[in-house]
Amino acid sequence: MNYEIDSILVTKEQIYDRVKVLGGQISDHYRGKSLVMVGILKGAVMFLSDLARELDRDLDVSFDFMSVSSYGNATESSGVVRILKDLDSDVRGKSVLIVEDIVDSGLTVSYLLHVLRQRAPESLSVCALLDKPERRRVEVPIDFRGFIIPDRFVVGYGIDAGGKWRHLPEICSVRTLSE
Ligand code: IMP
Ligand code: MG
Repeated sequence: MNYEIDSILVTKEQIYDRVKVLGGQISDHYRGKSLVMVGILKGAVMFLSDLARELDRDLDVSFDFMSVSSYGNATESSGVVRILKDLDSDVRGKSVLIVEDIVDSGLTVSYLLHVLRQRAPESLSVCALLDKPERRRVEVPIDFRGFIIPDRFVVGYGIDAGGKWRHLPEICSVRTLSE
């Protein structure tokens, strides 16, 4: 499918301000805990790296990453999720925070919660930059949320369409070009 950038939905400044607030909330919540931020590749990379820099310096925090693919077409998740890269570390007894770019149908995060819960972390929570509630198919708890957005396909700030546009510093909506 061919896409074209349509309009900016969330600006650089809005992202910066919100990430700062989230960093403060996460620092307060995890003070005295052993936090593992689990970034979901590749979409959450920019978000995780900016968020981490807004955390208190004295927080006990490490990073780990998972990569999952959902079977389906470019814009529709099928609900069947496959782990392409698993965690490097054992999260037993740790406070795990899943850091995700978008919660759309909710199927990916729901699957990740199911998988990670079995590894006996002390706590398991979700931080999502974007939330598209209109598209939800399964309820998932979002403990730390960046922005609620309408049902639009978006790119930028780590998020792609067919591998492109991750480098954009803001969140843009795209439209499909008819062939
Ligand atoms: P879910 O399983 O339907 O919640 O889908 C979550 C995943 O689908 C996200 O992590 C994204 O990788 C992808 N996704 C959902 N909406 C968009 C979008 O608007 N643009 C790009 N990727 C998206
Ligand atoms: Mg993703």
